[in-house]
Amino acid sequence: MATETSHAIDTMLLEERRYPPPEEFARQANAKPDIYDESFDAFWEREGRERVTWFEPFSKLYEWEPPYAKFFLGGTLNVCFNCVDRHVEAGKGSKVAYHWEGEPDGDRREITYADLLKDVVRFANALKKIGVKKGTPVAIYMGMVPELAVAMLACTRIGAPHTVVFGGFSADSLSGRMNDMKCEVLITQDEAWRRGSTVPLKKTADEAMAAAPGVKHCVVLRRTGNDVAMQDGRDHWLHELEDGMSDDPSSCPCEPMDSEDLLFLMYTSGTTAKPKGIIHTTAGYLVGTSTTHHYIFDLKRDEDVYWCAADIGWITGHSYIVYGPLCNQATSVMYEGTPDFPDKDRWWDIVERYKVTILYTAPTAIRSHMKWGPEYAQRHDLASLRLLGSVGEPINPEAWVWYREHIGGDRTPIVDTWWQTETGMIMITPLPGITTLKPGSATRPFPGVDAAAYDERGNEVGSGGGGYLVLKRPWPSMLRGIFGDDQRYRDTYWSKYEDVYFAGDGARIDQDGDFWLLGRVDDVMNVSGHRISTIEVESALVDHQDVAEAAVCSRADATTGEAIVAYVTLKGGRDGSVEKLEELRNHVAKKIGAIAKPANIVFTPELPKTRSGKIMRRLLRDVANQRQLGDTTTLADPTVVEEIKSRAESEQSGDEG
Ligand code: WT7
Repeated sequence: MATETSHAIDTMLLEERRYPPPEEFARQANAKPDIYDESFDAFWEREGRERVTWFEPFSKLYEWEPPYAKFFLGGTLNVCFNCVDRHVEAGKGSKVAYHWEGEPDGDRREITYADLLKDVVRFANALKKIGVKKGTPVAIYMGMVPELAVAMLACTRIGAPHTVVFGGFSADSLSGRMNDMKCEVLITQDEAWRRGSTVPLKKTADEAMAAAPGVKHCVVLRRTGNDVAMQDGRDHWLHELEDGMSDDPSSCPCEPMDSEDLLFLMYTSGTTAKPKGIIHTTAGYLVGTSTTHHYIFDLKRDEDVYWCAADIGWITGHSYIVYGPLCNQATSVMYEGTPDFPDKDRWWDIVERYKVTILYTAPTAIRSHMKWGPEYAQRHDLASLRLLGSVGEPINPEAWVWYREHIGGDRTPIVDTWWQTETGMIMITPLPGITTLKPGSATRPFPGVDAAAYDERGNEVGSGGGGYLVLKRPWPSMLRGIFGDDQRYRDTYWSKYEDVYFAGDGARIDQDGDFWLLGRVDDVMNVSGHRISTIEVESALVDHQDVAEAAVCSRADATTGEAIVAYVTLKGGRDGSVEKLEELRNHVAKKIGAIAKPANIVFTPELPKTRSGKIMRRLLRDVANQRQLGDTTTLADPTVVEEIKSRAESEQSGDEG
């Protein structure tokens, strides 16, 4: 196998399918090819002036004192005003902002922009009553209910920075975040609905508040109606606080905020101990998310029904359920529950009923649907869909093609969008009317984004080579630091290369200049001196017709340095066999080369994942190396690793490749 030693990561998987944009799509697309010709300054100047309404226009596009950037200097604006008030003032109050679908059968609400404005004003007045003002840090711990978006918008209306903590997190995670941000107020709900049962959010919040004494007030939405403990003086029912509150916008004007005022913190856990409070500020974030949303999802605001099926508790939901879409006056779907309740066709029922035109989800969800089989989608008419999106992990080519064929009717473009909590907005992505798609490739940097792959020494790797993904220029919605930890900010993102952002992902750039994301760099394996990315071996496995999901990691090996171990879930819940194991190893050899053949394959009904659906290869590495398991608190389902451990102990291993 020929590999160039200068490549930081060797890549071997070749994907040759191509999907040029349909002519009809290209003709009507928001983004035309000349969008790539515009200069960085011209592009963001124009978007900054047009996408957002300013109280005071900005006087300077940006300032870059590495590693800190400022954008739209001198401007003042308000996020809530841009997302809600101005649309109502423009006469679009009767437009639907959210088609909200609760998990329990028939629980639906249609929320127009006029409704949203009233809800937000009332909520903001209630927050003011308990002392929230410009600069008061507020934590939000809720499920996917409209009030979550309303709470966020109410905070931005007042100028109170928020941190939304995903409803699946523990009391410790919640108190840790609230203490770090010094939150004074917590907004939560009695309980959330999830797969037909209830999640005790208020109970967990009580435990968290016991460990976060700075929280003086807790606002509680009644959702399920079940009894919860309320502490006198501290806890307030939302409906009681709101009683008699005005919903007239003039009773609570939008606070003018500086472009660089703190908008929110989003904590990322990652693999290390303490979560990082990623700082996002006002103008750059809003311009970055609304601009990318407009071009990448090709949003036609009066025609499209847009659905981002993520949770608002993650950055995806902040940027592409709340702030980007509302700023663009989109009509969105918001869904409270899980995809398999009451049955595995729930999503497709929603797509059909609301005539969803744009669907944005994650590879882990797509692979679940693949595992369940296409028959659930076939029960419904999905002809309204015209564009699909993917985010969160590299998407295996097989999953990409399945998504396109079974959900997109073999007709819709797919935008595979690479970005991070830290980037705030999508950074590498196709533009659906322009880009020729390649399954598994996020294709090109968004206009104004300067991305590259570097080797260890900071040289750009040539075409075909793999390296470390870097961003060479600041961008409007980039993180403004880690809250309270300047040194960690510098160490994590700015110490590997000078004045260049280190993303922590591997990437390969092919002959056409298209980017192939190779996963986190800590997921790279070294087999006999070949640096092989886990995602490529996983994709080769998922390419086999019987495989639903695969996770790959390495274990120490006396001969080869590291040896590849694969954990495989077969379609339809089938069990593996020695024959199947050999078949899969040979399949990988055929797709990539003998060097990438897994030394072991462990068949398992489930893979260990984080609550946001990312496979936790770190734990699989611990299992493969028979080590004590590391931190398992971020696992969505802790029983999965135990199951895998017991299977791994009785595993069958194949002969060396
Ligand atoms: C990491 C960031 C940003 C929204 C959700 C995740 C991985 C994300 C892709 C993609 C390959 C991707 C990267 C990145 N990732 N999108 N399209 N292709 N990898 O946010 O939790 O901050 O995770 O997710 O590894 O660094 P996050």
